[in-house]
Amino acid sequence: MCGIVGYVGKNKAQGFLLSGLRRLEYRGYDSAGIATVANDGTVTLIRAKGKIDNLEERLAENRRQDNVGIGHTRWATHGEPDEKNAHPHRAGDIYLVHNGIIENYKELKKALSGYEFASETDSEVLAALIDSFYGQGKYSLTDAVVQALKLVRGTYGIAVISGRSPEEIVVARSGSPLVIGVGHDETLIASDASALVGHTKRAIYLNDGEVAKLTSNSIEVRTLNSEPVSAKVEEIETNLAAIQKGGYEHFLLKEIMEQPKSLAETLRGRVNSKNHTVHLGGPELSEAELRKIKHLIIVGCGTAYHAGLLAGYYIEQFTPEITIETVIASEYRYRAAYIPKDSVALIVSQSGETADTLACLREIKKQGIKTIGIVNAIGSTIAREVDGGTYVHVGPEISVASTKAFTSQTIAMVMFGLTIAQAKGVKNVILKPYIDEIVKLPEEISRVLETAPQEVEKISKKYAKYEHSIYLGRDTAYPTAMEGALKLKEVSYVDANAYAFGELKHGPLALVDDRFFELAFLPKGPLYDKSISNVQEVMARGGHVVVVTNDDAFDMPVESVVKITTSIELFVPILMNLVSQLLAYYITIEKGYDVDQPRNLAKSVTVE
Ligand code: F6R
Repeated sequence: MCGIVGYVGKNKAQGFLLSGLRRLEYRGYDSAGIATVANDGTVTLIRAKGKIDNLEERLAENRRQDNVGIGHTRWATHGEPDEKNAHPHRAGDIYLVHNGIIENYKELKKALSGYEFASETDSEVLAALIDSFYGQGKYSLTDAVVQALKLVRGTYGIAVISGRSPEEIVVARSGSPLVIGVGHDETLIASDASALVGHTKRAIYLNDGEVAKLTSNSIEVRTLNSEPVSAKVEEIETNLAAIQKGGYEHFLLKEIMEQPKSLAETLRGRVNSKNHTVHLGGPELSEAELRKIKHLIIVGCGTAYHAGLLAGYYIEQFTPEITIETVIASEYRYRAAYIPKDSVALIVSQSGETADTLACLREIKKQGIKTIGIVNAIGSTIAREVDGGTYVHVGPEISVASTKAFTSQTIAMVMFGLTIAQAKGVKNVILKPYIDEIVKLPEEISRVLETAPQEVEKISKKYAKYEHSIYLGRDTAYPTAMEGALKLKEVSYVDANAYAFGELKHGPLALVDDRFFELAFLPKGPLYDKSISNVQEVMARGGHVVVVTNDDAFDMPVESVVKITTSIELFVPILMNLVSQLLAYYITIEKGYDVDQPRNLAKSVTVE
């Protein structure tokens, strides 16, 4: 959560800081601020409550020529989202931006004398702590930061400036990402590389426990124990087009519509459609290791968790003698779960930075279990800490609600399952239908996206007036229902819950009344007729039922139907999920809410 930027170089800092914050706004948008320092040591601090637009208005009244500065866009943890709690925070000579949580800030605050705290934040306490060392006059800015961080418990990505050292920025990380952009006579920083695109292609990803002193033409990285680190410069792969709206009004719609292409990227070079095999290089497991796998643990949060659930349903269909457990990272990290030694864990994360997922990864590794990442963000912490992995390669996902990542995460995990099945000698005749459909899927998605947006937009006008909804499905359509309900609630604020059809009679059926609509997923298949009966039960109680089905002949008198025409069968729930994504999008537009930046949320959840 929270976005951090920094600039030291030949140009005016405010320009990059503002454009960088705009790119990182998806990480938090409760308040924003910028501090710049002039050559003579004068520091200008400008902060505003709310989105970056408000900050920009303030900056327009206070243009600065300064070449060094730091900026922040906030997702509130300690203290409400107002200006006094906005970053940068100042204490004495120190200006600081912080992403993360300082757990022992209350103790530290008590021990700090002579500071009057203007905010309720843990970050201001960290600024004061650094200043308490810097103020002694015997520490350089970097050393003062290091001394302070040695006393801190918690997570942080920080950037610090001071009028007393006007030509440098000091950054450090532990648990919250920080990327250093290496330019010509300029050095930039950001919480993620997307803010650096168009400025430099070269980046250093700071590791936990590292601190760096940055000037316009030098980067000195060391550990908190003062050991020098020779940092690796890596190439940023993202291009400008990938982080722009490309003609769409919103990132959410762009990302929904991108799915044929983004899934094709996930599949590129990994599926052999002639001999019906899958090859994933990244997991780095030998055939013998794959053969030995008896248990698969799939770990994720939110949409990534739903992708794991859905993939689990598929993998168990074709992989013999294997148990699959898909778990919510925030729960699993505190469970005393025993993991059998013949397990492999799939760690699923679009951002690669989700705090709970990362914590699970570390816990699971401690037990000596092999971890495989299913990650999108290249170079992210999870991608770097797993034993092996498969990037989904969907490109930047900027809208806060995850869409294209879900589709590719699911298929990437199914492909991993297929590699296990291949190694275990499962007959080609069993695996071929899955592989054939995976190859067809980008085109099938494309076909659905030709007509579904218009159809869904039409019905969304009717359902935007409801405050409650129930999403229903069974088997592979059940995780699809869960993901659909999450999408609707997070962007449109409509109360949406998913139930397995079979569970209806065990309680949720009592909810059905005129305040609710019910979205029922009915893929053709062995459980189709049973699901139809469940729909009838809802209709008999006056439900407002919307059916999504691939049955051309469907003719029940439900309120609305969205028919999907497709030649595939197994992965129809993935196509149905496109309808959920579009419904969430159009209902939100109808209600007039900010579909890319829903209230209270942030894209990457780097705090617990
Ligand atoms: C929902 C959504 C979240 C994320 C979750 C995990 O649309 O975006 O539920 O899926 O926060 O994020 P990652 O995949 O980055 O670990």
